[in-house]
Amino acid sequence: MLVSAKEMMTKAKAGKYAVAQININNLEWTKAVLETAQELNSPVILGVSESAGDYMGGYRAIVGMTEGLMEDLNITVPVALHLDHGTYEGSKKCIRAGFSSIMFDGSHYPIEENFAKTKELVATCDTLGISLEAEVGAIGGVEDGVIAAGECADPDECKSIADLGVTMLAAGIGNIHGKYPANWAGLSFDTLAAISEKVGEMPLVLHGGSGIPEDQIRKAISLGVSKINVNTECMLAFQTTVRIYFEEKKDLIGRGYDPRDIIGFGIEGVKATVREKMELFGSVGKA
Ligand code: G3H
Ligand code: ZN
Repeated sequence: MLVSAKEMMTKAKAGKYAVAQININNLEWTKAVLETAQELNSPVILGVSESAGDYMGGYRAIVGMTEGLMEDLNITVPVALHLDHGTYEGSKKCIRAGFSSIMFDGSHYPIEENFAKTKELVATCDTLGISLEAEVGAIGGVEDGVIAAGECADPDECKSIADLGVTMLAAGIGNIHGKYPANWAGLSFDTLAAISEKVGEMPLVLHGGSGIPEDQIRKAISLGVSKINVNTECMLAFQTTVRIYFEEKKDLIGRGYDPRDIIGFGIEGVKATVREKMELFGSVGKA
């Protein structure tokens, strides 16, 4: 059964580790993440962006697929199915479809509107037992080929949005989505420390978790980060292993054209990445 991320977040914050949010793209990806979490006895959050939701056919299809896999594979570790960077409308659709966790990304709205919409969603999610993530301070990344710098969130705004009763808070601390450029300045630990002090027990979320050096990940966790989102690194691992399949393995493994052989080989790269992240984040054995 899918669960809200609330309890896993509270435990992670208290235990000073982070739960991985791994974004999913299809059935094999979902199965790989679920199996790895089960093998490692780790809680996990499956992230679904709105575009991945469209790609997979729709939110109800994703809920049905995930619940079916959990039953058939005997997955007993806590699993939350989470909308990633949701719009206001997308959040409502996922709530209706049976998601157990929502991120409403109102960071592009004027702060008052972000507050008002977040507040309304807090009330809905509370009634239904769904966890809700809010965002303050835009997270940079590649847009139209231009890399936008990661913006740092205002600690007072973080405190105000935390006080609305969200489950967890994504705050920009210089992190960006996608590959980090060679001249990236690193995470702003001064900002993170200031936010942590303001928001107290509120679990913090680090987006753009791909490619951040391990020492920075550990420091971020020590300063209150309890959920780390990883997407790009899994995709890159899939690309690498699929390339190896075609360049070296296709005459040795399977028929070379069967999608089960191609995707099945590629997905081993995703599994290895998920394992590596769960070990680094400290969530192994915490289910
Ligand atoms: O919301 C999703 C994440 O922040 C993933 O970021 O693709 O840089 O790993 P990433
Ligand atoms: Zn993100």
